[in-house]
Amino acid sequence: MVLASITCSAPVNIAVIKYWGKRDEKLILPLNSSLSGTLHQDDLKTTTTIVASEDYTEDAIWLNGKKEDINATRYQNVLKAIRSRATKLQDKKHCVHIVSINNFPTAAGLASSASGYCCLVYTLAQIYGVDGDISGIARIGSGSACRSMYGGFVKWEMGEKEDGSDSIAVQVQPESHWPEMNIIVLVVNDKKKETSSTDGMQKSAATSPMMKERCAVTVPTRMRDIEEAIKNKDFQTFGDITMKDSDDFHEVCATTTPAIYYLNDTSRYIMNLIHRYNKLSGSVKCAYTFDAGPNACIYLPEENVVEVLSLFIKHFPDQDLSTYYRGPKENVEKIQS
Ligand code: PMV
Repeated sequence: MVLASITCSAPVNIAVIKYWGKRDEKLILPLNSSLSGTLHQDDLKTTTTIVASEDYTEDAIWLNGKKEDINATRYQNVLKAIRSRATKLQDKKHCVHIVSINNFPTAAGLASSASGYCCLVYTLAQIYGVDGDISGIARIGSGSACRSMYGGFVKWEMGEKEDGSDSIAVQVQPESHWPEMNIIVLVVNDKKKETSSTDGMQKSAATSPMMKERCAVTVPTRMRDIEEAIKNKDFQTFGDITMKDSDDFHEVCATTTPAIYYLNDTSRYIMNLIHRYNKLSGSVKCAYTFDAGPNACIYLPEENVVEVLSLFIKHFPDQDLSTYYRGPKENVEKIQS
C-alpha cells in the first residue's frame, strides 16, 4: 500500500562567492563561507517525486530516467539524517522510490547537484515530517545544495563546530529585496565536466598555494562587502566582487597540481567582452561568474538586459542564450501530494 507520495521542485543557485575546499569530507564542512543568488522555480530546476510504500522491498532512485545506486554514501547519509528526525512513518515498515528530473544539463557546471540534493532533502522532509532547519542535511548531500533551500540571496555560513551543526544556509535578503536583478546563462558546453567538484576541491585544498590567503582573508572580506552591496542594491560593488571571486576561483584551480581548467576559449571571450563593454559604458553593467564548467552566468540589473542580450546575440549568433529572472517568488515548493 502507498503510504505517501509527494512532488516538489527546487531551483539552482549561482554562487558569487565560491565554495571551494572542505575541512571535513564526510560532513561536508567548507573551508570558507559562500554566497549565492537563487533562481526562480520556473527556470533551472529539479523536480522530485517520492513515493513511500509498504510494497517496496528496497529504497531506489532514478535520476533523469536512469537508475542510480541508492547505496552511494551521500544518498545514504541524507536518508539516515532525515529518518533520524522523522515525525511520520516511523511506525510503518516501508521503503521509498525517488524519481528526480532536471530541466537542464546535469553536471555541466550548472549547479545540478545544488537543486538536486536540495529538492531530494526537501521532498524527503515532507514525506517524513521533518521540521526545523534542513539545509544542514542538504549540505551533507552536496555542499552548495544548502543554499538552494532559500530564495533571494543566501549565504552558507562555514560554521566553527566540529559536528557541523552551525554550518547552515542563511537568507541574506529575500527575493523581494532586489527584484530587478536578472541572470543570463550562456550554455557554452553542456557536456559532463572532466573533474568533479569533489575531486577538484580536494586537490586544490591540498596543493594550491592560493588557498590559505583566500580562506583566511579574501573570502571573509568579500563576504562582508558583498552582503553590504546587496543590502544597498549597489550593483557596481556587487558586480566587481562577483567577477573578482570568479577569477580567483579559476586561478586557484589553475594553480592546483595537476592544474584544473574549467574555462574554455569561449568562456574567456565572454569575460573579455564583458570587461570591454563595462569599460566603454563607464560602469559595471553586467558581471560574469563561472562555476566548475565553461558556462557563463551573468548577473545584471533588468534595465541592462536588452542591451547586454543584443551584444551576446551579435557575438554568438548560434549560441543557446537563456535569461532567468530572479525576482520575487516562492522558492522550494511542494507541487502536489
Ligand atoms: O556543491 P558542489 O560539490 O557541487 O560544489 C560547488 C562548487 C561551485 O559550484 C564551484 C561553487 C559554489 O559555491 O557553488
